[in-house]
Amino acid sequence: MAQTLVEHAVDIIRSNDQGAYTVPTHGLYPFQWNWDSALTALGIAFYDEERAWVELTTLMNHQWDDGMVPHIVFHKEDEGYFPGPDVWQTKRKTPTSGISQPPVAGFAARKLFERAKDKTRGTAQARAMLPKIDAWHDWFYRCRDPEGTGLVALIHPWESGRDNSVDWDAAFQRVPTDGVMPFQRRDLQHADASHRPTQAQYERYIYLVQLFRSLGWDNAKLHAASPFQIVDPGFNAILIRSCSDLAKLADDLGEPEIAARNRARAEKGVAAMETLWSDAHNQYLCYDRKVDQPVDNPSIAGLLAAVAPIPPNRAKEIGERILELGESCRYLVPSQPATSPHFDGKRYWRGPVWLIVNYLISDGLKCAGEDGVAQRIISDSLELISNSGFAEYYHPISGEPCGGKSFTWTAAMVIEFMTQSDTQK
Ligand code: GLC
Repeated sequence: MAQTLVEHAVDIIRSNDQGAYTVPTHGLYPFQWNWDSALTALGIAFYDEERAWVELTTLMNHQWDDGMVPHIVFHKEDEGYFPGPDVWQTKRKTPTSGISQPPVAGFAARKLFERAKDKTRGTAQARAMLPKIDAWHDWFYRCRDPEGTGLVALIHPWESGRDNSVDWDAAFQRVPTDGVMPFQRRDLQHADASHRPTQAQYERYIYLVQLFRSLGWDNAKLHAASPFQIVDPGFNAILIRSCSDLAKLADDLGEPEIAARNRARAEKGVAAMETLWSDAHNQYLCYDRKVDQPVDNPSIAGLLAAVAPIPPNRAKEIGERILELGESCRYLVPSQPATSPHFDGKRYWRGPVWLIVNYLISDGLKCAGEDGVAQRIISDSLELISNSGFAEYYHPISGEPCGGKSFTWTAAMVIEFMTQSDTQK
């Protein structure tokens, strides 16, 4: 049984492999996505270490001169996706989008390096990666935290990786739709409309893209100009964890300056995370920088925060909060509580369970010694796979598979759950 699931996962990743990068799934997402690729590299390493480094290297090869690593690399033309390169107009030789995504590369690079059977190759690859990931972290704090608070803001929901979360609803009411180009969505040709974002949300996604495009994708201007500026605890936790992992990697590779810089970023970030804690919800919340107020919605962003080296009492409280969520749904961890009036069990990030988030949360909880909750999350994840296959996401009550099928990073996470047990922060 165990053997079969891992073999199936490997087959899925191989079937989505394009040679130097892997598509998330054919049809719906025909290019390279940033955090998909970095997490997928972990699954690939199980059967082909060299190919795993290639996955990460391809991603980092498309880093911008200012340090940003884009959320999509459009390696080939494909009419099946909107918005494509003609909408982004970032003027890159190989077209890319103009925004970023959760920076899991530092986290992944450290794991690949520490697990490498071929140490010579692992060292050479990690050494090549180190300054690039450091520059990406620097970019985040420079361009998305101009006042030096220790926490970065997202300027587009797609940067969070949680595209249509309830967390953005209030802020999106302040994003206009004037002058939005007429467009035809392509996602609805590949997936059920009831699983996807709404038209009103898409119009605002495109408004923001057009606005940033009109500013020439100049990252010195975008943060201040954006009507959408949200500090997301899950996103910041991933960045903090990647900084702390990169610091350890840099120590191992004898690069003390890179280590010190990243350690300082992580420490400042962990201290600043405390400002996002809500006693009322017993978890972290997003913060809307535009109106200077917390976003009063207890989404999974505040639980994903467990991936960072947060204080042990916070990890414990998050563990308790997750178990409480399990009282109103069958499978942990729902992206929005099932008891919330905004819960929609099939609609993308407004209720469904995602394996990558489960993986990051359980990794963090294991590191914090919260093994019981971590194991519950892992067993729920594997049960979903056994019952419903390798989908993009799942209904947290019925377990129904939703979104795209034969999904790459879902497969990679199954390999991680079934073959790895490292617990270090
Ligand atoms: C969706 C997800 C995002 C992911 C992408 C490709 O846009 O919200 O997190 O990176 O699909 O799988």
